[in-house]
Amino acid sequence: MPTARGFRFFQGGPLSEPFIAVKNLHYTYDTDTGAPIPALRGIDLEIEAGEYLALVGQNGSGKSTLARCLNGLLLPTEGEVWVCGINTRQSAKLVEVRAQVGIVFQHPENQFVATTVEEEIAFGPENLGLPPAELRARVETALRDAGLLAFRQHNPRVLSAGQKARLAIASILAMRPACLILDESTAMLDPLSRRQILALLQELHREGLTLITITHFMDEAALAERVIVLDEGQIALQGSPRQVFAQRARLAEIGLDLPPVTTVAAGLARRGAAIAPELLTIEELGNAVRGLLPPAHSFYGTKAPIHPPARGLATQSSAEPIAAVRNLAHTYLPNTPVSTTALYNATLTLERQSIHGLLGRSGAGKSTLVQFLNGLLRPSQAGRVIVLGQDLAQAQIDLRGLRRRVGLVFQHPHHQLFERYVGDDVAYGPRQLGLRGEALRERVRWAMEAVGLNFEAFVDRRTFSLSGGEMRRAALAGVIALKPELLILDEATTGLDPRGRRDIHALLRRLRNEEGTTVLLVSNDMAEVAQLTDRITILDDGRTVLAGSAREVLGQETDLIAYGLLPPPAIEISEGLRGYGVPLDHSLLTTDELEEALWNVLTP
Ligand SMILES: Nc1ncnc2c1ncn2[C@@H]1O[C@H](COP(=O)(O)OP(=O)(O)OP(=O)(O)O)[C@@H](O)[C@H]1O
Ligand SMILES: [Mg+2]
Repeated sequence: MPTARGFRFFQGGPLSEPFIAVKNLHYTYDTDTGAPIPALRGIDLEIEAGEYLALVGQNGSGKSTLARCLNGLLLPTEGEVWVCGINTRQSAKLVEVRAQVGIVFQHPENQFVATTVEEEIAFGPENLGLPPAELRARVETALRDAGLLAFRQHNPRVLSAGQKARLAIASILAMRPACLILDESTAMLDPLSRRQILALLQELHREGLTLITITHFMDEAALAERVIVLDEGQIALQGSPRQVFAQRARLAEIGLDLPPVTTVAAGLARRGAAIAPELLTIEELGNAVRGLLPPAHSFYGTKAPIHPPARGLATQSSAEPIAAVRNLAHTYLPNTPVSTTALYNATLTLERQSIHGLLGRSGAGKSTLVQFLNGLLRPSQAGRVIVLGQDLAQAQIDLRGLRRRVGLVFQHPHHQLFERYVGDDVAYGPRQLGLRGEALRERVRWAMEAVGLNFEAFVDRRTFSLSGGEMRRAALAGVIALKPELLILDEATTGLDPRGRRDIHALLRRLRNEEGTTVLLVSNDMAEVAQLTDRITILDDGRTVLAGSAREVLGQETDLIAYGLLPPPAIEISEGLRGYGVPLDHSLLTTDELEEALWNVLTP
């Protein structure tokens, strides 16, 4: 029975085999070289039609490789993959397999082929040779489902990141697949767009679509019916989110996180509160905490409200900032038909030795602004940019000198890696600084280990063969190797696994505290921003709309949402818990602070 959207339901073959069956799947890259890379090492997995599965695991654990095996983009080195009773080795039937199982990748724009949204959606089904009426109907449905009706004539390239993700999903849905795989397709989105895509996915799943999402966000994994944890090419754990996230020790060993609510519940349980450690939702936590609240009168007068301390070394200091941008405007390709104004009025002050967050929805102008700080873009219209005491509008600036002191890690790591081998790539900057021989080797080793790339294992790896997260780390290592005074990370932690993220956070704190480095962090992960930053500037539509201490800015829920952002998880959870009568401060930024505050409430 087709549903309204006409998803094909696999009814089970004559032997009622499962929708997808993976049997002893091995996949090895570079089998023909002296250094084969075993990415999958014996996966057994059955997926029923209509299931909602989350695939998590460290960088390089084999998630993307498994996804590509499931739709026949890669064929097993050993073992078998069956989709709807078809073995993916049957090359004549591969078209059928790919029509059943569609993948949306992390950078959907790399997938686009057409010049209008409408044509982009029609492209796949056209290749299935459908009659015109059917084709039109499918395009309409997909446009509507993805909320893109108003954009049908737009060029895919001018869409916002959130719209691009929706278009990529729509063009796969128009093929009427039975299964949709999303390989970190929401990772690049601003928080609000990401939430909207997740809502769309849940709706599609309710209508019968089989969903497989690959993610490094544990709260996203917790939405699935089944979580599968990959570790070094094998399934380490699987079960319902509750079962999987109850395995705290094992998850910690693999380097994964718990969802935020579970983190708080487990923390309270560890301190001795009578709370089940595997709670997943705010509702569950609210009910559990409510049941433990002391009698109401004891809240008053017993304890002063907790005012979490200002953090970090950054206070509004009178010292000269390391960089200052004033009323900056920038138009790309001015006086041409395709001119685009990215900045209208941007202002930014970076205090020395601080971690500064730069936030805003996709298209707000963040990447444009940061490129002014190392002279990749130069002020030519309105505004001033002063970096390390130099006015960058002046013609006779020593740009090479500037770029040694201001390191920029780009948003797309593959734009940064240009050497053939990882080691050479990381060595490029230090070589420019004049390091040679053992000193050079030691600097490269330090930078690689600092970002969690094992020196021996990766120094001679070809850059193009890295997994998504490994590429990020290599790009980061190349810039850190310069030991810049101002380090700018443009969404550079996107795609890192939880342990990688924690390691990078620790590294950034260390650089700030011990080397006096100033860090400018562009990020769309509100939990990360809440944990790490001292001060925050928000851009919207090319304008600075909010700036202040992290605590001030992140407490402005209405403003955050208006700018395409969301409050960090700890603030959202506290907000929810207040609805259960739990007296909590409005400015708890991290799950650690929330746990502490809850513990104080429960043990007055
Ligand atoms: N094209 C390739 N050539 C050689 N090795 C590869 C290639 N693609 C991936 N690998 C290697 O295979 C292993 C699994 O990679 P895969 O991309 O499946 O990991 P992943 O779990 O998706 O990681 P991430 O979270 O970083 O995206 C890694 O060791 C990776 O370096
Ligand atoms: Mg991957």
